[in-house]
Amino acid sequence: MTKRVAIFISGGGSNMVKLLESMTADHPARPCVVLSNNPRAAGLERAEARGVPTEVVRHQPFGKDRDAFEHAITGAISEHAPDIICLAGFMRKLTAGFVDPWRGRMLNIHPSLLPKYKGLHTHRRVLDAGDALHGCTVHEVTPALDDGPILGQAQVLVLPDDTEDSLAARVLVQEHRLYPTVLERFVRGDRRQVLLT
Ligand code: GAR
Repeated sequence: MTKRVAIFISGGGSNMVKLLESMTADHPARPCVVLSNNPRAAGLERAEARGVPTEVVRHQPFGKDRDAFEHAITGAISEHAPDIICLAGFMRKLTAGFVDPWRGRMLNIHPSLLPKYKGLHTHRRVLDAGDALHGCTVHEVTPALDDGPILGQAQVLVLPDDTEDSLAARVLVQEHRLYPTVLERFVRGDRRQVLLT
């Protein structure tokens, strides 16, 4: 049975586009909806241009009431009946109330070689630490931030004159390879870790 994939974004959605482009032909999944907390996310137009339904659930009206925000997300995606959620640059934390029912069915991409550099500003922190190796990770989502079983990683060498921007750009290229690779394997039931170099 073809699986239905919801993709959550907050910004440009370049990873989302790569996921959409991958789900064709004999791929075992198809996109069913792209959801954003940010009505101005450029990725919304990119999804619509590709014929994928979009939903917006702004977080601001809910203030600190994360339960109500997450309840609204559940309502927005329910008519699209997703089997799997892919977080792709979705910049809101999700609580256990939302995450637990999706355990084993929700993925996230993070711009570091987890477990190093959970949270924000990963590229700057790699440069500050003087690391020689950086990269990105796709993992299953659990209630702890940027935690959960690792499904795949892609490496990037840090160069002597790298800036935050140059490093981010090379990591993003690897993200675009890694996420579609991991998603397809995941949908086929293969949870062995992938390492791309
Ligand atoms: C990506 O680099 C992704 O790894 C990162 O946001 C960017 C979204 O870019 N996600 C996180 O930092 C989540 N903690 P995109 O909108 O072009 O895919």
